[in-house]
Amino acid sequence: MQHCESVKGESFMGKLTRLIYASRANFRPVEASQGVEPTVGRILFQSRRNNSRHGISGVLYFGDSHFFQVLEGEPQAVNETYRRIGADSRHRDLTVLSQLPVKERLFSDWSMKYVPAENSVKAFLAKRDYLRFAPLRFSKSEAEELARLFHRQQAEGEGSGPLPARRFSLRRLLPF
Ligand SMILES: Cc1cc2nc3c(=O)[nH]c(=O)nc-3n(C[C@H](O)[C@H](O)[C@H](O)COP(=O)(O)O)c2cc1C
Repeated sequence: MQHCESVKGESFMGKLTRLIYASRANFRPVEASQGVEPTVGRILFQSRRNNSRHGISGVLYFGDSHFFQVLEGEPQAVNETYRRIGADSRHRDLTVLSQLPVKERLFSDWSMKYVPAENSVKAFLAKRDYLRFAPLRFSKSEAEELARLFHRQQAEGEGSGPLPARRFSLRRLLPF
C-alpha cells in the first residue's frame, strides 16, 4: 500500500527518511535528583514544538554527555532540521551514523520521544563491550539496533520518561 501524506499543503508519496546521529554535549550536565537534565529538557521542549510543525518524529537519548538522536520524516524536513541542530552550540562532533529511506516510521506517535538512562541501554552496551555510552563510535548497524530497541520499548509502553512526553499523531496534524 502506498503511503500518502501532506504536510503544509505539499503532497508527497511515501518519501520518508530516517537519520540517526550522535554528538558530544558542550555543557556539564547538572545532577538532577529526579526528572530530566535541565538543558536536555529545554532541547526537548524546542524539539517537540518545532518537529510537530514539520512532520518530524523521533527519539532522543542522553547519556555520558553524549546525544543519540533519531529523526524521521520527509527528507527535506529531516535535512533542514539536522542542519539547524548542527549549528547548535550545546553540542559538537555531530556524526551521522545512519541515513536510510524507510517505508514507515519507528516513532510515529512522538514528535520527540525521550528515553531516560535505563538498564536496557546498559545491557545493549555491555553486550558490545562498551564500558560507557560512546555513540560516536557506533557502527551503522549498532545505531539501527539501538533505534529498534527504543522502538520496542515504546511499543511495550516503557521508557517514556518523567517529562510529560507530548504524543501526537502525524495524521491529526495533517489538513485532511
Ligand atoms: C542534541 C540536540 C537535539 C536537538 N533536536 C532538535 C529537534 O529534533 N528539532 C528541533 O527543531 N530542534 C532540535 N534541537 C534544537 C535546535 O538545535 C535549535 O536550537 C532549535 O531548533 C531552534 O529552534 P527555534 O528557532 O524555534 O528556537 C536540538 C538541539 C540539540 C543540541
